[in-house]
Amino acid sequence: MRIDAWLAGASGRLREAGRDSPRLEARILLGLATGLDAPGVLVHGAENLAPAAEAKAEALLARRLQGEPMAYIAGFREFYGRDFAVFPGVLIPRPETELVVETALESDLPDQTRFADLCAGSGCIGLTLALERPGWQGVLVEKEEDALEASRLNRGRLGAGNAEVLAGDVFALDLPARCFDLVTANPPYVAESERALVMPEVLAFEPFRALFSAQEGLAHVKAVARAASRILKDGGTLVLEHGFRQAVGVAEILADLGFSKIIAKKDLAGLDRVTRGVYKCPRCC
Ligand SMILES: C[S@@+](CC[C@H](N)C(=O)[O-])C[C@H]1O[C@@H](n2cnc3c(N)ncnc32)[C@H](O)[C@@H]1O
Repeated sequence: MRIDAWLAGASGRLREAGRDSPRLEARILLGLATGLDAPGVLVHGAENLAPAAEAKAEALLARRLQGEPMAYIAGFREFYGRDFAVFPGVLIPRPETELVVETALESDLPDQTRFADLCAGSGCIGLTLALERPGWQGVLVEKEEDALEASRLNRGRLGAGNAEVLAGDVFALDLPARCFDLVTANPPYVAESERALVMPEVLAFEPFRALFSAQEGLAHVKAVARAASRILKDGGTLVLEHGFRQAVGVAEILADLGFSKIIAKKDLAGLDRVTRGVYKCPRCC
């Protein structure tokens, strides 16, 4: 079959399946099967597909038609200008999470900041901070095996030698007290009562434990904030992502734990997505 004929057929099937960008997805899938890039796929349109490449493209198309996210099929997702390896069992980095990175980078922090990124997943937040600030030292903490593997893989691929990846649980965090200038986190924060609002593709393919949290979605946020109030130095900064309806609740949790200068930051859609607070230690001199 000619390349342009395969692309036309695949685009039509993706369109019928309700995909938003059927032609682009068809080109990416064919690119993955043939090793050509997206412009190359178009330039070679009049050529015939080798049978093995066509079989591979059909297999990739079948996965996409069943709703599997493009990031799992491609094996990576771009975040803050870098490709992060992802696979089933690992949450796909979201564009709104870049706001956590931006907020941390614009905070008033020392040149040799020590930071901890909790609930690290693919490592997109912690490794980006380490790569953007080579003078910083970071630890990434994650509980689930698949996500730990992704963080470690990405650390090596991206060469973030100033970041360490540790297995750990935010409900029982084993990091030294008063050692960190910055804590970042994008914890699970979807409430079970909001399940119907989550896209079916996300529910079907992405890990439940990366998405849902007890106590109306705030159990992990509380654990992160409690842990941060123990490991942050006096005057240290916490930056965390949360649901767009949770900013008030998050601010109350932070204030109760002794954080001040609490501000919510809006994402590109104008929704309160990220909160920053500064920890004022009551017993530090
Ligand atoms: C919303 S995802 C965020 C992943 C990544 N930071 C990102 O922004 O794409 C939450 C992550 O927290 C991890 N997680 C869930 N419960 C945890 C716990 N108790 N302790 C540490 N990590 C946990 C999940 O495995 C998942 O990787």
